[in-house]
Amino acid sequence: MAAPSLSKIAYHTLQQGKSLAGLAHKELSTRLMEVFAPEASTGNFQINQSLIKEVRRSISNLESIDWKEAEEGVYPKSQLFEAPWLEWAKKYPLVWLDMPQTWQRRKKNQTREIPRDINEDDYPDYYLQNFHHQTDGYLSENSAEIYDIQVEILFNGTADSMRRRVLAPLKRGLKKYLSEGSKKVKILDVATGTGRTLQQIQSALPQVELYGLDLSGSYLKQASKYLSSRSGDLVQLTKGNAENMPYLSEDFQALTCVYLLHELPRDARQNVLNECFRLLEPGGTLVLADSIQIGDSPKFTAIMENFHKIFHEPYYRDYIVDDINLKLEESGFSSITSESHFMTKVWKAYKPI
Ligand SMILES: C[S@@+](CC[C@H](N)C(=O)[O-])C[C@H]1O[C@@H](n2cnc3c(N)ncnc32)[C@H](O)[C@@H]1O
Repeated sequence: MAAPSLSKIAYHTLQQGKSLAGLAHKELSTRLMEVFAPEASTGNFQINQSLIKEVRRSISNLESIDWKEAEEGVYPKSQLFEAPWLEWAKKYPLVWLDMPQTWQRRKKNQTREIPRDINEDDYPDYYLQNFHHQTDGYLSENSAEIYDIQVEILFNGTADSMRRRVLAPLKRGLKKYLSEGSKKVKILDVATGTGRTLQQIQSALPQVELYGLDLSGSYLKQASKYLSSRSGDLVQLTKGNAENMPYLSEDFQALTCVYLLHELPRDARQNVLNECFRLLEPGGTLVLADSIQIGDSPKFTAIMENFHKIFHEPYYRDYIVDDINLKLEESGFSSITSESHFMTKVWKAYKPI
């Protein structure tokens, strides 16, 4: 058997380091919460040995596919190490500084504390909440500054690897357009947040025209800062509601949407999928990524059941039992496939010609 290359060892070491850092952070923050805000504790979630084994196995499979697809050229290997490390290191103390407020919110079950200067009429009611008990919800620059670090901690350093699972199905879906080379391929990332998926697409498909939409102006500002610090063409970012997007019908060859569906009520979920269908040109592809669901990942039921109890995720319980395939079909999509990678499920759906 050939010895693993240096870059493979470096990648494995980085993932191990992120995982340990995530675990250490969670352990320490839970202990501090038990001391300083015991009422905020939702009770101990006991993770048994067989679940630990399953989690490790799943993370190891994720790492293998992440490495394999980089080797196959789905994306450059440099993506495996991509993050604004220095900036994250500088912002990490902000995560700790924000924590006591999060505990208070959890303790008092306060889930609608959003900044006073926000015009509530500009947003759907379901959006005006402190998702994950996050200070200001999605509606401030402070929230946007620490979001990426929080997500990496939550998923023990696997968040970007899980997002990258969108790239292979996306490239497969775009194959005919890319080989034709006749027209500019346009891709929209719906609910792009801080732009991590856009950056990944840009590195895998540098020739395409990229668009990103989100309801949070602050998150879009963060995305703009991050994307402009990386190489690649300008990405067009727009503030808007994914239920009613400000783009022409049939104007995109592909759409992606990562970690939005579980934060929407059921009817909004269907509205977003209907909008995605409208925006795609016939023959175009939608790639969705979101939390795994109970039906196809029963081994992780305990984690899913616990997630929405610890973090304020008001629509998660409904999402994990929702039939997304049926919703996609109702929107008009066909050739729907799905696969799961650790805590993320990825769907690929096609708009028939
Ligand atoms: C969990 S974050 C995911 C962000 C990003 N896709 C990622 O991978 O990190 C959910 C995002 O959806 C956005 N969002 C929620 N409801 C929305 C809606 N109706 N229209 C547009 N964006 C929405 C939020 O502002 C937030 O940026």
